[in-house]
Amino acid sequence: MLSDKFWSYFFEIYEAIPRQGPGDRESTERALGLLPPLTSHHRILDAGCGSGTQTIDLARATAAQIVAVDSHEAFVTQLVKRAADQGLGARIQARVGDINELAFADGSFDVIWCEGAIVIINGSFAKGLSTWRRLLVPGGHMVVSELCWLRDDPPTEVKAFFDAEGADVTDMDARRKDIAENGYRLVDDFVLPAVGWWENYYVPLGKALDRFRAAHAGDDEALEVAARSQYEIDLYRGHPDLFGYGFFVFKVPGVDS
Ligand SMILES: C[S@@+](CC[C@H](N)C(=O)[O-])C[C@H]1O[C@@H](n2cnc3c(N)ncnc32)[C@H](O)[C@@H]1O
Repeated sequence: MLSDKFWSYFFEIYEAIPRQGPGDRESTERALGLLPPLTSHHRILDAGCGSGTQTIDLARATAAQIVAVDSHEAFVTQLVKRAADQGLGARIQARVGDINELAFADGSFDVIWCEGAIVIINGSFAKGLSTWRRLLVPGGHMVVSELCWLRDDPPTEVKAFFDAEGADVTDMDARRKDIAENGYRLVDDFVLPAVGWWENYYVPLGKALDRFRAAHAGDDEALEVAARSQYEIDLYRGHPDLFGYGFFVFKVPGVDS
């Protein structure tokens, strides 16, 4: 059980960076390009939106209405401000909420979008797929990016790190199988390019960690929180091409919504 102090330090670090997981605008747009055009009649749920970098990208690239949900209030506040600053406030409704227990009616959304949160939240990729299915209209789409092994020989220490984080990492084929077994049809998938890990995520995170360590010098608990994130960066650097984010686009059978 992690302490309140841990979470307070953790969020201090992650509120200071523009996105809370790997991703990039080109990949968000590439996945969007696999969907039918989204007009002002369509509704997107952005689940586990963080401070909303991909929410803003979705709003810019479509005309859809977007509901963005995250459990951490400060991220939602950041997204509300970003949306207002960019004149997108009328199309983005950002809310604090638990994506395990979404109280929307069945068939509320044409698209569920989830970058890097389905596994963390629901404990397993498959559970997320089954829990959220009812929220989609017939023919609706889900777009999910999630951690995958890209080689089939993960070293023990890397596997142990992700197991301890509850990350439920499998390979791309196992994810495709989960998608089919939960009644969806895969449209396509691809692997997030390294720019989404480095330039957009680990470089800003590394700088935020430097500032955090300087601000909390001598505070062992704070330095431990920073060390955990630093370990993750070093793991990616030390094992290029071992793991990455698979981006999966799939749909509920039925007419295109
Ligand atoms: C890896 S981050 C991804 C954030 C964002 N999609 C991105 O790519 O930058 C996971 C997000 O899930 C949120 N989260 C964790 N548990 C949650 C829950 N039970 N309900 C809603 N959001 C949750 C976290 O606050 C965090 O913003």
